[in-house]
Amino acid sequence: MSKKGSTATASPNIAFIKYWGNRDHALRLPANTSLSMTLANLRTETTVFFDDDLQSDQIEINGSPASEKAVARVSQHLDLIRSLAGSPAFASIRSQSNFPSGAGIASSASAFAALTAAASTAAGLEMDKKQLSILARRGSGSAARSIFGGFVQLYSGEVNDDGYAEQLAPANHWQLVDLIAVVTKEHKSTGSSEGHLLAPTSPIQVSRVQDAARRLEICSRAILQKDFLALAQIIEQDSNLMHSVMMTSNPPLLYLEPESISIMKHVTHWREDGLEVCYTVDAGPNIHCICSSDDSVEVERQLRLIDGVLDVFRCPPGNGVALTSSNEQTPQ
Ligand code: PMV
Repeated sequence: MSKKGSTATASPNIAFIKYWGNRDHALRLPANTSLSMTLANLRTETTVFFDDDLQSDQIEINGSPASEKAVARVSQHLDLIRSLAGSPAFASIRSQSNFPSGAGIASSASAFAALTAAASTAAGLEMDKKQLSILARRGSGSAARSIFGGFVQLYSGEVNDDGYAEQLAPANHWQLVDLIAVVTKEHKSTGSSEGHLLAPTSPIQVSRVQDAARRLEICSRAILQKDFLALAQIIEQDSNLMHSVMMTSNPPLLYLEPESISIMKHVTHWREDGLEVCYTVDAGPNIHCICSSDDSVEVERQLRLIDGVLDVFRCPPGNGVALTSSNEQTPQ
């Protein structure tokens, strides 16, 4: 029996205009259109082998067998690929990330982008980036954006095929840097999949979604015109709105830690003092400090002086998903 394998790498992304909540949970169609920057230096590498001799999917994440929950989610995604390819074989999957997962650094984005590219290729499907993006979205909404590099927009879509991402500007368009101030490397207790389900219970969600097109327009223009101040104001507002929805859900979700708030306040003061820096926070306590390349050295120096900052990851705009190998053998 032939064993077809493929390896792909993908980077996470940080959303400047975030999505939170789904308009269709089964299809993972986001409640609003979002806009992100793909992050260089952080990556997930995933190898998928379909093997007719396997009795179930075998999944290893960062050197250990995957949890039951992770296996269920990955297998569900592989089922989609198996049905598209018309081939029932189970797979062995190895995935390795060079950064902590589940701590608000969008590990599901790089994981499902890499898995989608590797598995679809190993299954013999030939997909363009738009099709890969639609498929990656079914695993994790933000993964649809990690198919592309640079600055990327994910349309909320009305039906499966119009919920895809596309590039707004390439990675070399604007030398921004995301300095991720890590305050915990622990896995968050409530993942974004459960969080999306809670979003409609917040009375703020409706207005957050209604106003999203305005924020998106301002953010896209700020990126295209490289207007840092306009970008700073809109992405901080967007992040604060999402965390307001989280905090006012039932039950409430509070991802921010005291150290997170402390960093956010420092960032605001540094900007008042003339540094080009602003913050945005995903579903976790770690703070993404977006800054101009010129000011990033000083911002990083100051971040490392703050109590509770365990580490700082430095991420310029990065590239989209890439296939690194494809062959017909068993993995060693
Ligand atoms: O891709 P998911 O389902 O993990 O959701 C991502 C949600 C946020 O990261 C908080 C926002 C976003 O648009 O990336």
